[in-house]
Amino acid sequence: MGNGTATSVRDPEAEYLANLRYLDGRGDKLNYGCDIRVHLPLLRFLAKGNVLEIGCRRTACSTSALLCGVMENGGHVYSVDLEVEGPCSDVFEGHPQWSFLHADSCNDYQKIMDFITRPLDLLFIDGAHSQAMVLNDLQKYEPLVKPGGYTLLHDTDFNDGHPEYCGVREAMADYGRPCTFLPGSFGLGIIRKDGDWGF
Ligand SMILES: C[S@@+](CC[C@H](N)C(=O)[O-])C[C@H]1O[C@@H](n2cnc3c(N)ncnc32)[C@H](O)[C@@H]1O
Repeated sequence: MGNGTATSVRDPEAEYLANLRYLDGRGDKLNYGCDIRVHLPLLRFLAKGNVLEIGCRRTACSTSALLCGVMENGGHVYSVDLEVEGPCSDVFEGHPQWSFLHADSCNDYQKIMDFITRPLDLLFIDGAHSQAMVLNDLQKYEPLVKPGGYTLLHDTDFNDGHPEYCGVREAMADYGRPCTFLPGSFGLGIIRKDGDWGF
């Protein structure tokens, strides 16, 4: 993998494995900045049915895991991002189980409603990271998750001192649902909808 051919970069499994290895920018540029790598196996495990991903970026790290999951378990990944210049599309364009929408999760609610299939089995939030924006994503999209489904939020432990980038935990606290946190790769928050915590 990582030879730069169109075939290899469109293979979610190969991309996923490369992301786990984390080439630190020295290899395939698509893997640069894969700061969520330790959580990729859980994303893959939980991805089934209707999956909404807010924030995919062109690195395709989370998307590779989610797409591997729906390839194994059945389902479809709906990715939304503000960036239009090649976000993931360079990687997974044309994959039958992946769709991309250029949209703002905060301001394009109806556009996103028209794009996805509901209810959601899994919601993955990794878009804007301020308290207000993450709370907005939770309030708008977490209610679409079906009972027993999961919401995952990346960067619960990220703190560089800028409130704009480290509001995830605060937003989860404000949202007020039972949740848990996993360490590593800047932290992952988990909310389970109306169910017990058994995986
Ligand atoms: C941290 S990156 C996502 C990384 C990606 N999940 C991965 O694992 O490679 C955050 C992304 O969220 C997008 N974003 C920020 N605010 C957004 C919003 N309000 N709606 C949709 N996407 C947003 C940015 O354009 C950026 O690509």
